[in-house]
Amino acid sequence: MEEFIQLLKRLSEARGPSGFEDEVREVVVREMEPYVDEVVVDRWGNVIGVKHGASERRAMVAAHIDEIGLVVDHIDKEGFLRFRPVGGWNEVTLVGQRVWVKTSRGTWIRGVVGSTPPHVTPAGKEREAPEIKDLFIDIGASSREEVEKLGVEVGSVAVLDREFAVLNGKVVTGKAFDDRVGVAVMLYALRQLKELPTTLYAVATVQEEVGLRGAQIAAERINPHYAIALDTTIAADVPGVGDRLHVTKIGKGPAIKVLDGGRGGLFIAHPQLRDHIVKIARDIGVPYQLEVLYGGTTDAMAIAFRREGIPAATISIPTRYIHSPVEVLNVEDAVNASKLLKAVLERTTPAVIDSFLDKRIK
Ligand code: CO
Ligand code: ZN
Repeated sequence: MEEFIQLLKRLSEARGPSGFEDEVREVVVREMEPYVDEVVVDRWGNVIGVKHGASERRAMVAAHIDEIGLVVDHIDKEGFLRFRPVGGWNEVTLVGQRVWVKTSRGTWIRGVVGSTPPHVTPAGKEREAPEIKDLFIDIGASSREEVEKLGVEVGSVAVLDREFAVLNGKVVTGKAFDDRVGVAVMLYALRQLKELPTTLYAVATVQEEVGLRGAQIAAERINPHYAIALDTTIAADVPGVGDRLHVTKIGKGPAIKVLDGGRGGLFIAHPQLRDHIVKIARDIGVPYQLEVLYGGTTDAMAIAFRREGIPAATISIPTRYIHSPVEVLNVEDAVNASKLLKAVLERTTPAVIDSFLDKRIK
């Protein structure tokens, strides 16, 4: 448990907005190397760890290393940075935050997302939620020239500055648990894996938050016989939200996805693969929750419909306040997700895989 917490802390505190995942990638490469036979960083930055097994059948696991961020689109003459979202923010959570801004030199400098004090807010406007276009980052500079001297320019990216912390027992809080917890689950399972019936491709994917980009190319390259995505899912088990809308609850075990998605169409996890995962969870005594999530999806959606179709499913970690600086989860759910993943990888033999693949009728 403590080992998992340390791993999650390292991953969560690393800075990796979509497209600029370098710092997280370094952590992943270092953690992965001792436990796999090969590590490849592909041309868009996915980290692919290959562990050979008893057959040539290919299993793919995907967890994304990017986090939602901000991008500077304008610098005021007074030295304030104006920005756009990179990924889905709730702007209410941005006001009053400290951020890290990446400079053109590759270093990071601190900034804050400022707000108007209540004293000077026009009467009647106090309760209005701000829009991202009205927000700004203050890096302590007093002119555009000073900003430029610091190495900040249009296109510079930023992420939240937030330390990992233990709340109570196994319940922890931090930023970017979406999806560093999935990455931690994957790396933790790698540490425990011994002989496998298939060759494993463990992929730390990039740019999930801007359209599941990294997983698409990794799936094309690997052409796996089956795939499992690891990601957070909504746990709305908080005041003011009715039971039906909780989706999942923290501390009740990892979730096994039935379906998710929304505006872009639903993603239905491969039913036989999903049932296979459920059966394994029961066999090994890992608690689980079945998940139907309306809104949002995971890398599994991007992997599933490549080539001839790839049986794909998702194991999720229930997380409160996703896409905010104070995401909260129960580490026990994550450790159980890791146990379940390990068991699935060990028990998905070529014969099981064949049962998911094409059936020749004549
Ligand atoms: Co997300
Ligand atoms: Zn995610």
